[in-house]
This record gives sequence, structure tokens and C-alpha cells, in this order.
Amino acid sequence: MVDDKNRRTSRTSIADTMRSTEGLLRQGGRDLLLAFYTALRSLKLYPLENDQAQRALDGIDSTAATLLRMEDELEIRVSGDFLFVNGTRLRLDLDNYASFSHVLGILRQCGIGIVRVDEGADRREWQVFISLLLSFAARELTPNKLYELQQKLLQANVTHISVEPPVESDQELEAEERAKEVAKRTYERSVAVTREVVNSVRMGRSASVKKVKRAVQTIVDQVLSNETSLMGLTTLRDYDEYTFTHSVNVCIFSVAIGKRLGLSKLQLYDLGLAALFHDVGKSRVPLEILNKQGPLDENEWRIMQAHPWLGVLTLFGLRGYGEIPYRGLIVAYEHHMKTDLTGYPKSLRPRKLSVFSKIVAVADSFDAATTRRAYQSVPIQPDQVLKEMWTNPRRGLDPVLVKAMINLLGIYPVGTCVVLDTYEVGIVHAANPDLTQLHRPLVRIVLSPEGAVLRPGPVVNLAETNSDGSYRRTIVKVTDPARYGINPADYFV
Ligand SMILES: [Fe+2]
Ligand SMILES: [Fe+2]
Repeated sequence: MVDDKNRRTSRTSIADTMRSTEGLLRQGGRDLLLAFYTALRSLKLYPLENDQAQRALDGIDSTAATLLRMEDELEIRVSGDFLFVNGTRLRLDLDNYASFSHVLGILRQCGIGIVRVDEGADRREWQVFISLLLSFAARELTPNKLYELQQKLLQANVTHISVEPPVESDQELEAEERAKEVAKRTYERSVAVTREVVNSVRMGRSASVKKVKRAVQTIVDQVLSNETSLMGLTTLRDYDEYTFTHSVNVCIFSVAIGKRLGLSKLQLYDLGLAALFHDVGKSRVPLEILNKQGPLDENEWRIMQAHPWLGVLTLFGLRGYGEIPYRGLIVAYEHHMKTDLTGYPKSLRPRKLSVFSKIVAVADSFDAATTRRAYQSVPIQPDQVLKEMWTNPRRGLDPVLVKAMINLLGIYPVGTCVVLDTYEVGIVHAANPDLTQLHRPLVRIVLSPEGAVLRPGPVVNLAETNSDGSYRRTIVKVTDPARYGINPADYFV
């Protein structure tokens, strides 16, 4: 009985304390807001030496310090039309309406969702912070504004006051995460069904194509709705799974090129299936030859070069292929022939390659050259591959289709690691949607100028200019991401 009473008393006192803390916080929060507002107004209206400006800085510094002593941490958060201080929503009333909306406006104008103040913040940091807020708020809101503000704070050695993006962007982030998840599942599924078919053929078992067809349809649907997520995954180049990831990558690239050429969805299904199966003949090439380290001898080459027509035979034998897989057969047969017919198999009569074969040949060349494989320990940088495909006539590729591929990937394909003139390092995130800006892709910053790893950093558009018309960021060179310990695939998974 006594115990019960005690428990009740202690419960009441905890609730009381919580209520009073909340009350104090609300009052402290309002004081902070007012001090913040006064500082913003004073530094805008008066020179720094002015008494009013100095008093306002004293005010914000001491109000924040008081709150920090009480709470150990201090966080001002914008959420919708509300301001929260350490999770407590500030009540808006007539007295604080002006300060409230002014502070809210300035934070929004700078793209800020959270201001975090740590113990140790001093008057100097407050002065720099408030001045930067004023100058940034006056500028147009761009996607990189917050990042630039963060950089400026670091450069000015403001380490106890930091800013973060709004919580609302959580939703967008979630949508992006979801798209990535879906893309990843599609990719993994496609690799798995390809593996299943190839292994069945290798074991001499019949294989069902239904699942592969479904996988291809999913790829097409996704390339049509959200190209970037799936294209990003082609940078995942798993050495052990090369045979399968290569087929899936060639399928994704081919479908994306086909989309650019305006093919219908049904045509894209056909193209995707043909692309996925272009190397299916390799499942009849002995593994020792397929995975051989070092150059192949003449006999081995002969066997390797048989894979196009072995592919035709294999496709004939597949169960459930439906109507005649005519286009698939042609692609398997023609994809190494080259437009001038100098490739293999040798053609006895002049012939025109089907457009599907030419598309797959372009996708195939690109993926093969950018992948690390048994006989190619260092992959060539993607931008160099595209350049070579474009300029070397011996490649025997259709220039119009190479151009389509360049338009698709940009001159710097997704996943390329680039060094910028701002000393930042980035990973190409997507081609610039503006086709006149192919040399200025969208880039995710992964290393700050100081070398700090950003995970994930902001995506910036290299076509963005300063007020004087000069570009904000320009690619200085393409680099090997391994040199910076970066794995581009990490940023797409
Ligand atoms: Fe091939
Ligand atoms: Fe291939």
C-alpha cells in the first residue's frame, strides 16, 4: 500500500518535471527565436561595430548558451510551417509572429531544415553564421545552396554550428531509396535467371525461357519509367559473375538505346530478350577457355569465335521460346560481324546487319571494354571507351548508334569518377537531360575539397553557372575511383 503510494508520487513528480522542462524549453525556445531574429535584423541593418549589432550577438550567444546548459544539445528544426527547438514545437502567437515568420523564411531561403548548435559555439561563430545566412538568403535558391553554405561554414572554421537539409526531403529520399531497391531487385533477379539458363544449357538440360522473358519485361518497364537507377547498377561489375552481369548490362544498355530510338514497348521486349541472350552460345564454350588468364591460342580463339552460331543452335533448343525467336537468332549470329563484315562469323555474301544486332554490338563493346576481367586487369575509363568506339573505324560499329549511346550515357557515363576544378571528387550520377550539355553531367560529390568523404553527398548539375555566367564546377579529369578508395557501385546500391 505504502509502496503503491510512493510509486504514484514518483510517477507524478516525473510527469511534473517533464511538464516543467517542456515549459522551460518552450520559453527558452521563444527567447532563442527572438534573439535569433534580433541578430538577423541588426546585422542586416547596422555595421558590425555598431552597438546594436554587438548587443544582438551577445544576446543570441548567451541565450543559446543558457539553453545548451539546460539541454546539452540544441537543435532548431523546420518542419512544414512549424519551428521546433529540441523537438518541442514553438507556439506561434501575436507577439512572436514577426520573428517567427522572419526566421522561418530565412532558413527556408537557404534550404536549411535543421540548425544544430553544439557546446563551444561562441560569439565569433554566431557572427559568421548570421552573416552567411543573410548573404545566402539574398541569393536565389538552388539545389546546392545548402551544400555551399556548409562548405563556407567549414572554411570559416565554424565547427559548433551546423546546418542540414529539411526533414521534408526525407520523403523524396525515401522515394529515391525505393526506386533504388526496386532496381536492385530487378537486376539481381535478371542475373539469377540468366545464370539459371546458362547453367542448364551447360549441363545439357532444357531451360525455360518464361522467367527470362518476365525479367526482360521488368527491365524494359523500369528503363521506361526510371532510367537512372537501373543504369547505375551496370557499374556493379562483379568479376565472378561476369558472364551473367555482362548479359544483363548489355540488355539494359540495348533497351535504353532502343528507347532513345523511339522503339515501341513490344519492340523493346524483343530487343531486350535478344540482347540478354546474345552470348548464350558461350555456355557451350568450355570454361577453361572462357575464363582463361592471358591470351588465347589459335585453336582456343577458333572455339571462342564459334559462340555466335553456337548461340543460334542453343536458342533453337530452348523450351518455351514461343514463336520463332527470329530476332534473337539473328542477334546471336551477327553481334560480332561488324558493319563492314570484317568480324566473325565471316559472311560469304554481302549483307546488311539488323538494327537489333547493331544496337547490341554497341552495348556489348561498351560493357566489355569497361569491365575488369580475367584477361583485362585494368578496365579502361568509360569516357575513353566511348571516344574510341566513336573514332576507331575498326570497331565496325554504327556511328549513329554510338552517338545514341553517347547521348544516353553522356560523354562521361554513369559511374565515372571525376575530379572537379573545385577540388571536389564526384561520381557521375546521370547524363545531363539537356543534350547540348553532354559534357556537363549530373555529378554526386563524394569527396569535399578537404578530402572528407560524403555519404551520400549532394548531386550537382555541372551546367550550373555563377551570376557572371562562368560555370560553378567543371571536370578537370577522369580518374580511377580506386585511387581514392571509392567504389562507384556503393552510390547506386
Ligand atoms: Fe559475343
Ligand atoms: Fe558479349
